[in-house]
Amino acid sequence: MRTIIQNGIIVTASDTFEADLLIEGEQIAAIGRDFPLEGADVIEAEGCYVFPGGVDPHTHLDMPFGGTVTKDDFTSGTTAAAFGGTTTVVDFCLTEKGKPLKNAIKTWHEKSKGKAAIDYSFHLMIGEMTEDVLAELPSVIQEDGITSFKVFMAYKNVFQADDATLFQTLIKAKELGALVMVHAENGDVIDYLTKEALANGQTDPIYHALTRPVEAEGEATGRACQLTSLAGSQLYVVHVSCEEAVKQIESARRKGADVWGETCPQYLTLDLDDLRKPDFEGAKYVWSPPLREKKHQEVLWNALRTGALQTIGSDQCSFDFKGQKSLGIDDFTKIPNGGPMIEDRMSILYSEGVAEGRISLNQFVDITSTRAAKLFGLYPKKGTISVGADADLVIFDPFTVRTISSETHHMKVDYNAFEGKRVKGVVQTVLSKGKVIIQDDTYKGTIGDGTYIKRAKYSEQLRNSALAERV
Ligand code: URP
Ligand code: ZN
Ligand code: ZN
Ligand code: ZN
Repeated sequence: MRTIIQNGIIVTASDTFEADLLIEGEQIAAIGRDFPLEGADVIEAEGCYVFPGGVDPHTHLDMPFGGTVTKDDFTSGTTAAAFGGTTTVVDFCLTEKGKPLKNAIKTWHEKSKGKAAIDYSFHLMIGEMTEDVLAELPSVIQEDGITSFKVFMAYKNVFQADDATLFQTLIKAKELGALVMVHAENGDVIDYLTKEALANGQTDPIYHALTRPVEAEGEATGRACQLTSLAGSQLYVVHVSCEEAVKQIESARRKGADVWGETCPQYLTLDLDDLRKPDFEGAKYVWSPPLREKKHQEVLWNALRTGALQTIGSDQCSFDFKGQKSLGIDDFTKIPNGGPMIEDRMSILYSEGVAEGRISLNQFVDITSTRAAKLFGLYPKKGTISVGADADLVIFDPFTVRTISSETHHMKVDYNAFEGKRVKGVVQTVLSKGKVIIQDDTYKGTIGDGTYIKRAKYSEQLRNSALAERV
């Protein structure tokens, strides 16, 4: 199978240039000009950018949460991701305290095997550090190829781990070559504020945000950074929403700590007032951490521009408005947290970021693809356009404008948080491992072609180059 993509403008995290791509089988075979067209499928990309497929480092597909299960599973979620230009996702495998890690990994394989449109991998949640967990971790890395561990500092009595668990996870990760991810909010303080609000009869969606103040995120982010320094380990803070957290990450990095930060499209574009929408519509905008006051948006954009934050995750975690979000109609604590974001992640970053002049084209590629591939051991197979890399590619028309709507999106969920928003740029064609899977707004792939990827360790080499890359 030979495919040629011709006359496009190739964009990587470092370069922008005009060239053709020759794809043989699943990989990019050559970058150049005048490849013989005979026997090849030719895709015309004139006037379009050619990006490496997006790498979404943060998804929750087919995930049980708050007494229900996310609407999008590995089939609808990865298909919608592909429509949006994402060709790899790393999903969170949830573990149960007291149960073997391997049970959870088996469950996540059952949810995903044969069901994905694009390649995928897993992060593993650590809820409690015990002798049994410690004993299992080497094989999680070696056999399962899972090289990132997630610790929740919030969701008391559900996912929340204590500081001893976080600290031991950091120490073990350093020894084994894994990256520790944290959901950084102070769960104990939030638990107190939440109970107080309910006791005062404050049950509307807005109280979800008002009981999770920026200080609770800033404090937990700072604590995680300090524990990382103490352990001499490495940390990735997921879904950073506010200035207080950005400052902690910036300060830790300035002191030489190996700390990375991710934000999400929702924090860059939506705000606290969305939670005040009438008729319970605010429930559509319930994320943890919550949406913040508008002033935080420019801080987050600035952090992406200067490199204080490096990646963008969708935190895809979709629940229908009718029947799922509505579980919390009388009590905001019962609204399942999260939203549909996997499809529009790149679109929002391009339109609000590149087209609005907030970040460069190369930064867009770095933030949506390359950096996550590097941090999570997928690079250079994923996350770039180079000879030998997987031919995961997006042909992107930067001038056409489209309107986001749940009527036309490909997620299964019954609303879109960006309903009616006009965005610049349209994904025209997507290839996964050399095969066209999206063309003319139609899915052309085969479900099950997306396969599980074992990832490389968070390596010493990457660590050194990452430190050197910092300004
Ligand atoms: O509200 C959110 N973010 N839901 C998904 C679970 C998590 O905390 O990432
Ligand atoms: Zn989280
Ligand atoms: Zn999440
Ligand atoms: Zn469509």
